[in-house]
Amino acid sequence: MTLDGQHVLIVGGTRGIGRATVAAARAADARVTATGRSAASLARLPDGVAGRMLDYTDPAAVAALAETLDGVDHLVLSASDAVAWGPFADLGEPALRAALEAMARVLAVELAPRRVNTVSPGLTATEAYAGLPDAARAAMFAATAARLPAGRVGAPDDIAQAILLAIANPFLTGATLDVDGGAHLAR
Ligand SMILES: NC(=O)c1ccc[n+]([C@@H]2O[C@H](COP(=O)([O-])OP(=O)(O)OC[C@H]3O[C@@H](n4cnc5c(N)ncnc54)[C@H](OP(=O)(O)O)[C@@H]3O)[C@@H](O)[C@H]2O)c1
Repeated sequence: MTLDGQHVLIVGGTRGIGRATVAAARAADARVTATGRSAASLARLPDGVAGRMLDYTDPAAVAALAETLDGVDHLVLSASDAVAWGPFADLGEPALRAALEAMARVLAVELAPRRVNTVSPGLTATEAYAGLPDAARAAMFAATAARLPAGRVGAPDDIAQAILLAIANPFLTGATLDVDGGAHLAR
């Protein structure tokens, strides 16, 4: 797969799935811009990747970034400061605003011929879980792996490769790719 100089903007490219997507896009010869929230997180980006500071909770910062970027061929949204799931009634408003899957289908129609897809990860071993004690994190990953048809939790590159597929396949739009080791079957 080659992206041959196409410009990919990865929001939340400094850690986890976003960082793996930065690496995958670079390997496919894309021109990559990635965002992080601080100079320290941007310093983690690999050579050759343009870093931009962004906190997506600041609408003015989002608008400023959009205005100052030159053409972007593909936008990947991988930023989140919390992984949230559960029943509707238990989720707070910030988590509900992450209802990207429904929005993506609407946008795929309204923005056509531009394409909009969702990649829906299962439990993926990223820094998002760094706040858990090591033993609790290992136990959670092991218990989840035991329930999954795939027999393991996800690695960031598992998800990054699906994002690259969604970027590169010109016939894919309005789709949701469940990259979850079969979790949607095992519930
Ligand atoms: N990991 C999982 O098990 C899992 C499962 C389902 C869905 N997801 C979703 O997949 C996406 C990536 O998750 P991940 O596990 O890779 O997360 P992660 O390792 O915690 O990385 C989060 C990224 O988001 C950036 N970020 C956080 N808050 C931000 C804000 N307010 N404004 C701008 N950037 C912000 C961080 O930047 P800094 O480095 O600057 O802090 C970092 O680059 C998220 O949308 C998450 O909800 C993850």
